[in-house]
Amino acid sequence: ASTLGAQAAQSGRYFGTAAAAGKLGDGTYTGILDREFNAVTPENEMKWDATERSRGSFSFGPADQIVNRAQAHGQRMRGHTLVWHSQLPGWVGGIGDAATLRSVMNNHITTLMSRYRGRIYAWDVVNEAFADGGSGQHRSSVFQNALGNGFIEEAFRTARSADPSAKLCYNDYSIENWSDAKTQGVYRMVRDFKARGVPIDCVGFQAHFGAGGPPSSFQTTLSNFAALGVDVQITELDIAQASPSAYASSVRACMNVARCTGITVWGIRDSDSWRVGQNPLLFDNNGGKKAAYQSVLSAL
Ligand code: XIL
Repeated sequence: ASTLGAQAAQSGRYFGTAAAAGKLGDGTYTGILDREFNAVTPENEMKWDATERSRGSFSFGPADQIVNRAQAHGQRMRGHTLVWHSQLPGWVGGIGDAATLRSVMNNHITTLMSRYRGRIYAWDVVNEAFADGGSGQHRSSVFQNALGNGFIEEAFRTARSADPSAKLCYNDYSIENWSDAKTQGVYRMVRDFKARGVPIDCVGFQAHFGAGGPPSSFQTTLSNFAALGVDVQITELDIAQASPSAYASSVRACMNVARCTGITVWGIRDSDSWRVGQNPLLFDNNGGKKAAYQSVLSAL
């Protein structure tokens, strides 16, 4: 096939991109979005600071724009993200009382998931809950500090009731290298959830890589998680300087794992990337295909 999405579809996978509502009026941008991608993740529009700026007051304009547009173009949606310590409004960070925070968290999850019920392929229910470095434990956050380790389980149980048709994912960065303590911490959590029947369907590997690309163990990591009985996905791929071989190894790691169901790049053109000046994407500032594009297409 001659596009990323169509080529990925030949093996039953999707190839997606992060998209920003503010760019949907740019014809070059939407031209590439519709031609190349069969899955979409809102880059910021579903985050807590965009959807519930004050308690119980929800706004969905930009998120609706992205979801409606993706649906009209037959693109799958990844929901991103429900419970995250970042891009969190100050009013949530200031809640110290556990019962209040539990109810606020569950209401946030239920309200977002209900609005888009049946229209989201996979939701990042909890994002980036594990600490960097050697502890293998959860990071400090308002959720962790007020609710304890059980907040992740609680979020997934709430999510399952809110939209039983969505796959429920845990999503994180720097969990691609199998031997890292952070990877092992997430692995133990997923193993425990599966053993105890806590609802979890997928693990998202953000895959924000440096110029060297993925660690050599990336495929092993994907396949070890998949062996626990979850799907795995590459959810936010970008690679400093976009070396074609680094992109090809990332794509091959997914292609070689049956339960790796799709790949999402974190933006379309280099000028759309959050990694300013690093040229980490598949299209140049004019929307032209870079060398990495061809290497990804060949690896799919
Ligand atoms: C980034 C967006 O790309 C930026 O526009 C925003 O300013 C900050 O967040 N991990 C995630 C994504 O899960 O939501 C982040 O997206 C990048 C890191």
